[in-house]
Amino acid sequence: MMDWGMQNRINRIIKPDTGKTLMFAVDHGYFMGPTSGLEQLDQTIEPLLPYADSLMLTRGALRYYTDPRVDVPIIMRVSGGTSILNKNLLHEGITVSMEDAIRMNASAVAFSILVGSDFERDTLLAFTQVVDEAERYGIPTLAVTAVGKALVRDARYLSLASRIAAELGARIVKTYYCENFERVINTCPVPVVIAGGKKIPEMDALTMAYNAIQTGAAGVDMGRNIFQSDAPVAMVQAVRAVVHNNATPAEAFEMYEEIKNR
Ligand code: R5P
Repeated sequence: MMDWGMQNRINRIIKPDTGKTLMFAVDHGYFMGPTSGLEQLDQTIEPLLPYADSLMLTRGALRYYTDPRVDVPIIMRVSGGTSILNKNLLHEGITVSMEDAIRMNASAVAFSILVGSDFERDTLLAFTQVVDEAERYGIPTLAVTAVGKALVRDARYLSLASRIAAELGARIVKTYYCENFERVINTCPVPVVIAGGKKIPEMDALTMAYNAIQTGAAGVDMGRNIFQSDAPVAMVQAVRAVVHNNATPAEAFEMYEEIKNR
């Protein structure tokens, strides 16, 4: 039997007309505190929301920096527990009950797993607990394949982590773009989106998004490369053209420049 609620929530995030999604990530505060560009989170996201298919953030950011009239599906970060000051960064556990995620009308919940680390078992078991609770209410779980400093972000590792995430119940996997990305896409049975990562030149970020989409990614879950851009409103529209309209990096960059200079 089709799980209507689950399918409806996924379709609110991954747009049925293109099969793609532009997730806008502003959840960095859960381990990075007042991240550059998000000090006044509400002011940063306000002009960008019309171009986002979903907004990924913490329950605190949702409560304190957004208006309940916001008309964008929410992906709620439900993992955390360590900060950038901790040498065991990314040893994350559950930070939000499913009851509170539902109360705040989350369309999906997001949890970081750390495959290959000393803490992999903790993060994978907490992840499956979230999956069990989320599935009960028809809420998709997005797994984030966090990568520790000692691990290499290559296709071998990222396909392993992504496949494990899907086998353990993720409905969507968020991972990093890498060389031979088709290996990640071809061995993961659920939609894969890529994280943006640290701020890089706009053309490079657009090229990475383009390569990921052309290889079969379902979209991007991008944060810093949008809100730390010189022109965030131009950048989000350029990324959107790559994700939904198959714009080439050159076309998207031209669009970025044009909107920026308007
Ligand atoms: C990391 O786990 C966080 O979820 C970030 O929000 C995510 O990586 C996307 O943001 P960025 O594009 O800035 O890496």
